[in-house]
Formats: sequence, structure tokens, C-alpha cells
Amino acid sequence: MGWSEPPTVILESGGESLQQQQQIRTTDPRDKGTSKVPETITITDDRTGKKVTVPITDGVFPSSALRELDPDLRMYDPAYLSTAACRSAITYLDGDNGVLRYRGYPIEQLAEKSTYLEVAYLLLNGELPDKAQLAQWTHDVVHHTFIHENMRKRFVDGFHYDAHPMGMFVSAVAALGTFYPEAKDVLDKDVRDKQILRLIAKAPTIAAMCHRFSVGLPFVYPDNNLSYPANFLNMMWKVGEYEIDPRLERAMDVLFILHADHEQNCGTTAMRVVGSSQADPYSAAAAASSALYGPLHGGANEAVVRMLTEIGSIENVPAFIEDVKSGKAGSRLMGFGHRVYKNYDPRARIIKQTAYEVFQVTGKNPLLDIALKLEEVALNDDYFKSRKLYPNVDFYSGLIYQAMGFPVEMFTVLFAIPRTVGWLAHWQELLTDKDQKISRPRQWYAGPDSRDYVPMIQR
Ligand code: ACO
Repeated sequence: MGWSEPPTVILESGGESLQQQQQIRTTDPRDKGTSKVPETITITDDRTGKKVTVPITDGVFPSSALRELDPDLRMYDPAYLSTAACRSAITYLDGDNGVLRYRGYPIEQLAEKSTYLEVAYLLLNGELPDKAQLAQWTHDVVHHTFIHENMRKRFVDGFHYDAHPMGMFVSAVAALGTFYPEAKDVLDKDVRDKQILRLIAKAPTIAAMCHRFSVGLPFVYPDNNLSYPANFLNMMWKVGEYEIDPRLERAMDVLFILHADHEQNCGTTAMRVVGSSQADPYSAAAAASSALYGPLHGGANEAVVRMLTEIGSIENVPAFIEDVKSGKAGSRLMGFGHRVYKNYDPRARIIKQTAYEVFQVTGKNPLLDIALKLEEVALNDDYFKSRKLYPNVDFYSGLIYQAMGFPVEMFTVLFAIPRTVGWLAHWQELLTDKDQKISRPRQWYAGPDSRDYVPMIQR
């Protein structure tokens, strides 16, 4: 069946016509207590006349309604555009209004006042830590930053000299799990907590190790006296004497906060899908990192810098925008658009501000002018306006990373370090959610009907 044929299942929200609902809702759209609109949806199968009415809670209705109507009925929802695959209390995202909150706290407040490790605690535990809890958590993370020597000597040293650091990161995260066989015991809370600690603490060590290997520099061991972002910068850049500028340390921490979680994105969904089979968290985090690697997801920051470099000067911006619109450029305006945000990504706003602070230390990234011009032209262009395409988190982050000296190949790795906590918070939530089972979507089969095998001689 194609979509051009008339529908045979009718969904009515609240049992009213759309016009009636709109009239009532316009009068009092938010007052659920006294509204005359029932918070239900009725689904009618026109083939049988059977109806099922189920509640709508927070804009969500259970798919069990469809199974009740007909167990063989499927909803075709490629890329999960209308599917809530889980119930989550971690991150709130309102794409129309550009709102992002972790455990209820606005991202703007966290970026201004908090630290990455405090945010990590918040995401994992649901509440901000008190002084003693933060001290303990920081101590625990700091004391798990070292990795087994064989990880570096036997595993990482085996990569080809020009291996992409993100490819190395993905593989190293999976390999790390082989050092902790108990990690398979995912239903044991103590075991889970230990692996969470290890992954968060070791992610920067692995990331820096991948970079040092790819440029042929000796590995720098973690320094337990440094903060989380300072330790990472030290492992990345230390050659002889190295002093960390506190403004760059803070900028790194802010970037880590902004990237810590973003609810059910492609990488987190990969984490949940793999985690749902009760695979160990290292394997699941490697899958999530792989998803992040793609240019439509975390790989976009690398693509943005390559795009800006290719554009070369602000005079070429209008022509480039025309090429994007006509499809001639062969690609999209990287760092623009988002599945959920149909407004300015709040993280992009903070990152843009952080970029100016970093440039005070490093000097301005010459690509900034091209980026600003691109943003200006796109935000005033009907093509982008009508599709609600705004800068996303990746549009300005690459410029900061580049100004700080990170090679473009490291950009997605810089995203993966802080996102590790988001993946783990969701993994933990998944394993303690009684509604969850192994992920197993259904399909709409479109292949041939049954047919007999044809021997080679007759083909
Ligand atoms: N440049 C030009 N046109 C775009 C862009 C873009 N960056 N993004 C979307 N569009 C257009 C599409 O061509 C489509 O137009 P059409 O209706 O004429 O066919 C329309 O906008 C809707 O696009 P979809 O592909 O349906 O949107 P979707 O939600 O599937 O894609 C995505 C979201 C993947 C982020 C997309 O906007 C994109 O490819 N952006 C560039 C890559 C990028 O920056 N990714 C990082 C996202 S943030 C993150 O993952 C951390």
C-alpha cells in the first residue's frame, strides 16, 4: 500500500472535530483542569469499525492502543519523527522556543554558574550535589583517570599512523571494557556505578591519547591535582613546561557542560538500543560514539570548519548560500538546522559568546567573519526562514576548538568526552525503567512474495 491511498484508520483527538477542539482550546488552552476537551485520543479502524480510546498524557498516548485495535497494525515512523521511545526525567528540550534544561535547570544558568563535573553529578543523580557530595564525586573521578598501560602499548600503538582520532576513540572505548569483565553485570547497581565513574574519568585520557598518538607525541599521564578540563588540556598540549590559561580552562568546561546531554539524539538512542540488550556499557558507549561520528550528528563541527575554509572569504558567502539552496553545493549548510530546534539552538548562543572570550586569549579565528556573514545571510533568506533553519551547537564550536589549537579531526572527540555522561545517564535510566525491554522495532515489509529457489543453470 502507498500513502496516496485513502487512510483506513482515523485518529480523533478528544473525540471532537479539529475545529471544535481549536475553538475550545483557543478559549482556554492551558487550563487542563476545567477544559472541556477530554485528554484522550480515539482511534477508529475503518476496516472493522472498532474504536479504541486512550489517554493523552503530556502530549503522549500509548502505542498499546494500536495493538489493542489490531495486534498486526504497525505505525510507519521512519527516523522516529513522532515516536517517544522512552519516558525520561533527564533533559527537557522545547525546540520551538529554544529551551534546554538538565533536570529542570536552564542550560544558561548551568553554563554560567556550574562546572562539568557538577553537571555530570546532576545528570546522573537528578539533584545538584552538596559540598561533601561534590568533593567525593570529584575525588572519585580524579582517581579513575588512569588507563591500563596495555591499552596504550598494545592496543592504541597498533593503529596506523594516520588513523582518525574519532575512529581510535570509538575502538578504544569498546576495548576498555575488556579490562573490566565484571562490567557485564549490568543489573548490579554497584557495578554500574563503577563503570560510570570509569568511563567519565577515562574519556579525556583516551581522547588525549588518541591525539598524541596521531601526532607522534609521547603520552602525558593524568594529573590528579588538576581540574577535569585542565587535566584534559594538560594531557593534550603539555610538551616541557605548559601553563593552562584559566580562561581556556573555563571555556573548555563550558563547552563540556553544553555538550553533556541532549535527550534522545542519534547517539543516545544508539546507547539505549545497544544497552537494552544488556550489553556492557563500554560496548554501548562505543556504539553511541560511532553514531556521534557521522557528519549529520557530532561530525558536523568538523564539517563546518571544512565548509568555512572552502568558502574562503565573505565575498563568496552569497554564492555559497545560493549553491546550498539549489542543491549545487552537493551538501547542506553545515551547522544549521536541527531535528528538534525550530528556533535558535540555546547552546549556539552561549558558544558564540564563549568564542569571543576564547579569541581574547588566542586571537580571532579568521573564519569567524565568514561564519558571521553566513549566519546573517541565512537568517534573512526565505529558504532558511521558511524551514526554520538556525545555527545549531556545531556552528561556532569548531571555531573555538580550532583557535585553541585542536586539529579538526579531534572536534568530534571533543564532543564525545562530555556526551559520555549523557549516554550513561540514559543507560542507567533505561536499565531501571520497568517499561523497557530489548529494543526491537517492527518493519513494513516491501520485498518479494514467496518464490522458489532457481538453480544456477536456469538463471
Ligand atoms: N542546509 C540546507 N537545507 C537544510 C539544512 C541545512 N543545514 N537542514 C535541513 N535543510 C532542509 C532540507 O533540505 C529540507 O528541505 P525540503 O523540505 O525542501 O526537503 C528541510 O530543510 C528539512 O530537512 P530535514 O532533512 O527533513 O530535517 P531533519 O530534521 O531530518 O535534519 C539535520 C536535521 C540532520 C540536523 C539537518 O538539519 C542537517 O543535515 N543539518 C546539517 C548538519 C548539522 O549541522 N548537523 C548537526 C546537528 S546538531 C547535532 O547533531 C549535534
